Amino acid sequence: MTPYPRWTLRTEHTGYTVRLSPDGPWAELDAWGPHGAEHGPSALDWSHRTHFITPADAAPAEYLPYGIRPFTGAELIAAGPDGERGSWWEFDGAQETGTGLRLAFTDGLLGLRTVLCYETVPGTDIVLRWTEFTASRELRLERLDSAAVTVPVTAGARLTYLTGQWSQEFQRTQLHLTRGTFTMGSIQGVPGHAYAPWLAVQDTTGEDAPAYGVALEWSGNWHITAEAEPGGAVRVRAGRVPHEGAVRLAPGERLTTPRLACAFSADGLDGLSRVWHRYERRLSGERLHRPRKVLYNSWEATGFGVEAAGQLELARAAAGIGAELFVVDDGWFTGRADDTGGLGDWHPDPAAFPDGFDRFVADVRALGLDFGLWVEPEAVSPGSRLHTEHPDWVYRVDGRPARLVRHQLLLDLGRTDVQDFVIATLDRLLDTYAIDYLKWDMNRPPTERGRPSAGPADLDAEHVAGYLRVLDHLRAAHPGVTVEGCAGGGGRVEHATIARTDVVWPSDNTAPLDRLAIQHGFLHAHAPHVMSSWVTDAPGVFDPRPRSLAFRFVNAMCGVLGIGADLRAWTPAQRAEAAGWIARYKEVRDVVHLGEARLLGTPADPTCGVQYDADGRTVVAALSTGRLDGAPLVPGRPARLRLRALDPAARYRDTASGTTYSGAHLLHYGLPFAWSADHDADLVVLTRE
Ligand code: DGJ
Repeated sequence: MTPYPRWTLRTEHTGYTVRLSPDGPWAELDAWGPHGAEHGPSALDWSHRTHFITPADAAPAEYLPYGIRPFTGAELIAAGPDGERGSWWEFDGAQETGTGLRLAFTDGLLGLRTVLCYETVPGTDIVLRWTEFTASRELRLERLDSAAVTVPVTAGARLTYLTGQWSQEFQRTQLHLTRGTFTMGSIQGVPGHAYAPWLAVQDTTGEDAPAYGVALEWSGNWHITAEAEPGGAVRVRAGRVPHEGAVRLAPGERLTTPRLACAFSADGLDGLSRVWHRYERRLSGERLHRPRKVLYNSWEATGFGVEAAGQLELARAAAGIGAELFVVDDGWFTGRADDTGGLGDWHPDPAAFPDGFDRFVADVRALGLDFGLWVEPEAVSPGSRLHTEHPDWVYRVDGRPARLVRHQLLLDLGRTDVQDFVIATLDRLLDTYAIDYLKWDMNRPPTERGRPSAGPADLDAEHVAGYLRVLDHLRAAHPGVTVEGCAGGGGRVEHATIARTDVVWPSDNTAPLDRLAIQHGFLHAHAPHVMSSWVTDAPGVFDPRPRSLAFRFVNAMCGVLGIGADLRAWTPAQRAEAAGWIARYKEVRDVVHLGEARLLGTPADPTCGVQYDADGRTVVAALSTGRLDGAPLVPGRPARLRLRALDPAARYRDTASGTTYSGAHLLHYGLPFAWSADHDADLVVLTRE
């Protein structure tokens, strides 16, 4: 062994090299980039001279406790019973596994062993990182991040992240960080609408600069923090944020942090998005190959006014245009005339389904449609029977008022009895009725988050564990049921959820141009096959800027197509057009969901789109974001959308028009689109000849 051993983790196109530091007992990043980038002096190395700070504060450390790294941000703050908040550790050995690495550090005085864990994911450019702690006496962990990574930069870093609020999730946002700290996160018990637990870091040299990304696999409270350091580096650390401010570790207990997925692409943000897409296709496992059916969801059409006749009328119309699945959203159960009641009492409302719910489901299925149902398993309405029988099942703080959000309370899903109730409820529904699809919603964060007289607890982690336990149960006990993840739109989209659901709902906002921006941001971090998207009525409830039915279809076809409009009001011509789009979608959905996706331009451009490539087929969704005044430009030329990654020497044939193009033409000039007042979107399928 050399005095400072190095280990390189190899992914499909990249290498991640870690070494033991010459400066102290810690691991530090030596190189992260394309294969071979580790051969040469480390770009993260530094002068080894410090003033007023310690070497540990300046090192590109992979993980350090407060104590060893006193000034510039530590990943771990651990305290013993005496209250001393710091740890000083010794290296305790490395273990290489076939695809991973474990580096152990021990603090004998404090009684804490910390193992930094690394695992590559085959077929991807992802390195997963997490940390395991074992205590030999009772400890208090005030900070327990998953990992830290360091990115060398020249004049500063460009950070790309996804921000928003309810109905405006996943807005791509950028800032230049030259000095100082940038932090985002959530203490809402879910990742939240304000920030996605995802960050990309590049040098400020250009949009195409190599891109480094992190994403935290955690359904609860979290933070991602980037700190621009004086020596030309940005250090990013990420992890969970305990609700109680600290986690108690009992003697002999082992605690594992959430995994931080670390991604690299030499091809800028665009290439980075494909690294994430490929990883999420892997997270879906064999269920990736289950075709995502064309859904109809009645929420926007009927709201809480769910009753059999109206739903069946919608189901008939949906089947008529080619939908494959009918989902009844909120409002189907007893006490749910509006959002003030009913949650927790998960029984179909007999007044709404006078011939019985099973008969209603059978009627839907007789139309050739699968059947789906909305549930919000963590929620309870104050007047419900569930709340009357189990008032102790909700989060609450003795002596404090219980605030309502959307008129409802939140069940403490960290409790095993609550998990068992939720599992029994879902089993009952799925065993009693022929249900193929479940939409799991969650519409309020915890506020008075307590569990009276239960002793010390890690409520956030317990809620996450309960949520994942129920999702795991659904997958194991009801493997045929497709699951959609939703939290008041896109409030709980992260890798733990994506690995256990089939699709997620990015936002309640389905208005065409707003949705375009939401999906543009979403596709930076997440794969098309998980992106549920509906065609709804125009003008909708959000952004009234007009766009055609074609635009709304092409936009929704960029992910998993659904319809949420009130089809009862649609004219025969609209229904015929919709049927045409749905038929086209069915022909290309395998390319959209399984192919390589490339974002073409941004919604700020007058024409933007998404290109999908698989097996010699290229599908281009093209959208005009410009004015629709119908005045032709005189003289004028068609808009062009430059495609990418085609073979310049090959010929590509537009299957609809028969026009052929050379790859060079499509790369150099692009596909032409002659937009007009009533032609603002197109879907082009090119076949390589
Ligand atoms: C919020 C979801 O995001 C919507 O799609 C819908 O299911 C409503 N909840 C129902 O209450």
